[in-house]
Amino acid sequence: MASRMGLLLWCRLRCLARGTGRTRRAPGRPRLGQVRLSSSEAAAQRAPGREEADSKVGTRKKTFPEVQAERLEQAQRTVLINCPAKISEKKFLKYLSHHGKINSHYFYESYGTYAVVEFSEKDSIASLQDVIRTPGIEEECAVPFKSRLFTLTLKNPSTQAADQAPVHCHKQSTILVNDLVQKLCSADSVSNQLYTLMDEYQLTEENIKLRFLACSLIQEIACAYFPECTVKPFGSSVNTFGKLGCDLDMFLDLDEIGRSPTRAKTGPFYMEYQMKRVPSQRIASQRILSVIGDCIDNFGPGCVGVQKILNARCPLVRFSHQPAGFQCDLTTNNRVAMRSSELLYIYGSLDSRVRALVFSVRCWARVHGITSTIPGPWITNFSLTMMALFFLQKRTPPIIPTLDQLKDLAEAEDKHIVEGHDCTFASNLNKIKPTENTETLDVLLSDFFEYFGNFSFNKNSINIRKGKEQNKPEPSPLYIQNPFEQALNISKNVNQSQLDRFVALARECAWILQQEDKGHSSLNNSQPWGLAALLLPSVASNCIKGKKRRKGPAASERIKSLLDSLKINNANSLVNNGGKRTFSNQTR
Ligand code: GTP
Ligand code: MG
Repeated sequence: MASRMGLLLWCRLRCLARGTGRTRRAPGRPRLGQVRLSSSEAAAQRAPGREEADSKVGTRKKTFPEVQAERLEQAQRTVLINCPAKISEKKFLKYLSHHGKINSHYFYESYGTYAVVEFSEKDSIASLQDVIRTPGIEEECAVPFKSRLFTLTLKNPSTQAADQAPVHCHKQSTILVNDLVQKLCSADSVSNQLYTLMDEYQLTEENIKLRFLACSLIQEIACAYFPECTVKPFGSSVNTFGKLGCDLDMFLDLDEIGRSPTRAKTGPFYMEYQMKRVPSQRIASQRILSVIGDCIDNFGPGCVGVQKILNARCPLVRFSHQPAGFQCDLTTNNRVAMRSSELLYIYGSLDSRVRALVFSVRCWARVHGITSTIPGPWITNFSLTMMALFFLQKRTPPIIPTLDQLKDLAEAEDKHIVEGHDCTFASNLNKIKPTENTETLDVLLSDFFEYFGNFSFNKNSINIRKGKEQNKPEPSPLYIQNPFEQALNISKNVNQSQLDRFVALARECAWILQQEDKGHSSLNNSQPWGLAALLLPSVASNCIKGKKRRKGPAASERIKSLLDSLKINNANSLVNNGGKRTFSNQTR
């Protein structure tokens, strides 16, 4: 209790100290208000994966559905070829270009070397497929399913590959955390550390293309049953927060099939399809996924480890797409999740600080096992993203609008009611006014940890629709209102001990950043600092020690030193004219 009081007092003191400029900073690092647009920040603005997503039609930014439609169409003109690592790229392209103009290509490694080749016309694929053989059946018998996944071999490997250098492969995975920490240490501000992290870990343009291609390959299988279906990516592959190696969430969209054509205006009759009827939409989804899951398992080239998880809240088929190198979760009848992805995409595209903060917090949580790829009582990336967005809505002035404000900006075509849930919000990014908030990411990161280190989780819920805390309607440890299915808590799975771990880590990280900012840090330039220091395993172990530490005299010592620093800061504030922290470049 005493330590909690101490911490609260400390936080209050911090708040007072904040308006007053800083005294000392570690040498070589700029003060919070001096952050400038470095090359890594500039690079983040041109970040791969955003290039096309953010590209404009005339002066207008494209909407999420427009970007998706473009990428899906591109994927249908694309093939995936397993080829030798040592191959003449020139001859390879010449060979393929007999079938049509090639728009782009790249190589990568995943259980062998693969080439992704995008033709400019879809017809080229048919032309190529016409000359491709089915595998010999000397030893094993092949299931004769013709896809756009091919194998290319050399006719004379010994002579053709002898003096070839391996082709250049694009990266499909992140660098190790230790290497990342080193890179972060050479940035010149915490803000630039966040952009560096994003540069290193975000999905690349090539990886995004591969994700759409994998969807398009699965669509071909599903099309055997439902020729008008589409398979679209959702979740972090498209919501701007995806990290290299994240899973690929796929949505089997059968809605086009259900859409009624314009009714015949003349004649005395109606005609409709006879269709099998089942008691509920859930049962329909389970049956469809069961069959498509079997098809993927039996006929899907490169698809291994197929699991049908049909009793989950949202039934799914999970498998590994070995050539692409990611785990895929295929769902259907999941239109709300598709809308959530679009909403996150909008938030992520509004202001570069949103993406950088959310991305960094997600990576931080992953490093410390706050989130996990395994389902369990921990905070999910989706929940954590909602928390970060909520925090950004609570700034003064807010950095992003609330969901209700986005709904107010919606036009007629934005209206979406999914199974009775209102999923309406403006999809046109150009209609959303940029924020006037100029805080740096240094401030935002530190305040994020402080905010959630002291949030009244026992009393309040988080709600991005309103951008306000509300009383919790039920006693789950963490209550984050589902933005669309508003009666649901997206973090119902989280137990008290996982929430406590998050809170303890958040406090520890707020403390580390605050100490550095005051120049009190024991860290010098040769040791990890800023975001790099927060990613070290010792942060988590300090939390456990910190529990004891805060009960003992150290807590009061800390308060005393903060009181002292408050006096100094107050004195300086008279000189520094308040030292209001702003970030100088608003172009991001
Ligand atoms: P990672 O896969 O961890 O990188 O992040 P992700 O955002 O893709 O999360 P995940 O694969 O767990 O979920 C994919 C999408 O499903 C999310 O982006 C959400 O749109 C949706 N989703 C995930 N969890 C929930 C939930 O608890 N409730 C609701 N309504 N939707 C969810
Ligand atoms: Mg995902």
